[in-house]
Amino acid sequence: KKSEAWSALFSEPMSELVKRYTSSVFFDKRLWQADIAGSLAHADMLAAQKIIGAADLASIQKGLAQVTAEIESGAFEWKLDLEDVHLNIEARLTQLVGDAGKRLHTGRSRNDQVATDVRLWLRGEIDGIGELLVALQTALLDLAEKNVEVILPGFTHLQVAQPVSFGHHMLAYVEMFSRDAERMLDVRRRVNRLPLGAAALAGTSYPLDRERVAKTLGMEGVCQNSLDAVSDRDFAIEFTAAASLAMVHVSRLSEELVLWMSQSFGFIDIADRFCTGSSIMPQKKNPDVPELARGKTGRVVGHLMGLITLMKGQPLAYNKDNQEDKEPLFDTVDTLKDTLRIFAEMMGGITTKPEAMEAAVRRGYATATDLADYLVKKGLPFRDAHEVVAHAVKSAISHQVDLSELPLAVLQGFHPSIEKDVFDVMSLRGSLNARNVLGGTAPAQVKAQIARHRTRLAG
Ligand code: ARG
Repeated sequence: KKSEAWSALFSEPMSELVKRYTSSVFFDKRLWQADIAGSLAHADMLAAQKIIGAADLASIQKGLAQVTAEIESGAFEWKLDLEDVHLNIEARLTQLVGDAGKRLHTGRSRNDQVATDVRLWLRGEIDGIGELLVALQTALLDLAEKNVEVILPGFTHLQVAQPVSFGHHMLAYVEMFSRDAERMLDVRRRVNRLPLGAAALAGTSYPLDRERVAKTLGMEGVCQNSLDAVSDRDFAIEFTAAASLAMVHVSRLSEELVLWMSQSFGFIDIADRFCTGSSIMPQKKNPDVPELARGKTGRVVGHLMGLITLMKGQPLAYNKDNQEDKEPLFDTVDTLKDTLRIFAEMMGGITTKPEAMEAAVRRGYATATDLADYLVKKGLPFRDAHEVVAHAVKSAISHQVDLSELPLAVLQGFHPSIEKDVFDVMSLRGSLNARNVLGGTAPAQVKAQIARHRTRLAG
């Protein structure tokens, strides 16, 4: 029996310390559904190929149904001695149905089994993540729609640059998350390939029908090289890279929410249910959720580094190193899903404070570029216009007024071609409306983009 020694070859039982060190059951039991689905597909094929009998198949199916019921009800006893999810389930199956259970592992190794399990499990999680990304994009679109006409200072170098629509700003994140969704779908294609049939590393001498198993499991094809099938985890690394990027996008948004909610900006409020207080300072309301998301991004990027480093020194084919792929992968999935879910909800709890944003835009001379563009339209070369406006801004700063508050006569002192219509051009709304280029911040463009995204997400 396994709990004593692996086989007749071993003359002593495994050390307790080693047992604990090498066991993975307490985290990989999470793969149980995939493990059973893979076993059922494998057994079905073994019977179709007459490698096992129909009665054995029936016993295996009945036994695995029982194992499923036991795991679901919590009655299943996971044993450290049985090392991992695969051996735990197989041992219980054999206890329940005898020899048929022992025949299940024909033409299979835990090496191709575990690679299959991880892929099946990850495929399901990718689908869930896809739905969460849709929910988050929808929440951002709703917030954008409510704030198309709200004017936010657009920043470069965190210095006020030009006025932008708050809705436009939210749509920038919709673009990012839509690419994250695309990346996930692309990764899914490579995750969804079947390793089973590779056996330990070289394939097997049984006449397996791998295509049949792939079809049963809804996979897009079989891994075409047995050594590669059992040993590479590039699909998990790719997934974690895509997850890291999605988290980085959440993290950038988080950084902005934290800044915007601070008293120094005062651009937004986040609903109380998403904030926390302080145990000492009664006046505090803290944006813990975006702060934590920013922090958890480091953790996911760390998992990416962990997984890619795990792979780099491994000779072909399977090495036990690969057992270390699970915890980082599981934690990446959990962290990303929790984060996307909470953000999809929290974005609906954000209220904007348009007056504070507009005041900040004015303080920053955000329409200086509009004045320069105005002069260009009057015939000045852009570089000269740039210089003229710099003088105007310098004067406005010294008088502590906005450009639009300088009298016409003063403005004309900077350039004679300036006329009364300049005040429309330098208004925040005039500036916004003027940027009516595809992808620009003019409300007409923002509305068109919202409509495009809604159609895309519905399709
Ligand atoms: N628990 C192992 C893993 O996660 C399963 C494969 C073990 N194979 C082996 N030959 N020891 O990778």
